[in-house]
Amino acid sequence: MAGKRALVVYDTKYGSTEQIANWIAEGINDADLRHVGDVESFNYDLVVVGCPIYSEMPSPRIIQFLDRNRDVLKNRKIALFTVSVPFDMTPERARRFAGQKDIKPLFDHASGQVIASKAFLGRIDLKEMTEFDRLSMRIWYFLKGYKLKEVNYLNRDEAVAWGKKLLETLTKPPDVIPPQPKQSDAPPSFPGGGAENK
Ligand SMILES: Cc1cc2nc3c(=O)[nH]c(=O)nc-3n(C[C@H](O)[C@H](O)[C@H](O)COP(=O)(O)O)c2cc1C
Repeated sequence: MAGKRALVVYDTKYGSTEQIANWIAEGINDADLRHVGDVESFNYDLVVVGCPIYSEMPSPRIIQFLDRNRDVLKNRKIALFTVSVPFDMTPERARRFAGQKDIKPLFDHASGQVIASKAFLGRIDLKEMTEFDRLSMRIWYFLKGYKLKEVNYLNRDEAVAWGKKLLETLTKPPDVIPPQPKQSDAPPSFPGGGAENK
């Protein structure tokens, strides 16, 4: 059986990026899904790379992955995504969230042709966090003047739809250069003028 067309690579700490990566792979419908530590092959047309944002930065493991594999990735189409929950997020803001600021470092490290990028919203579940992360979050929110709450903005439909769009981009035939008119068919170069008046 032929291999899959796309690879979805992710890093995660508490599972939300893995969940979104799963939905993206489902939307592509022709993708292998791998944790960043388990990638063995790059034999794909498209490599989708995603990670969570911690302390306003993409996860270092994903940056290292992009750097370490620069040579092989420069011949691939790449799609990038992040998962985050900015401290000022509200359900109303979530509907309009674009959040491309934190994704920039991924662009800086991606060597291939980046065909798409997207910032997804994740979740904050205080119960599942390490003591250290819970404390960091409390301090961080306090300093910024926001109330720390458990939230879940994971959106399956959005992630599946993005995966479908990636597949469309991949299967779209290359742009065809329209046939150029012959000299005799060429329109006059200015009103009343043109080759026929010479
Ligand atoms: C210690 C900590 C720091 C975080 N820092 C940020 C941040 O700087 N910016 C942001 O938008 N989200 C931040 N988040 C929210 C995470 O990006 C969010 O919880 C995401 O869903 C985690 O993904 P994961 O479950 O794949 O690890 C932080 C979360 C934790 C626990």
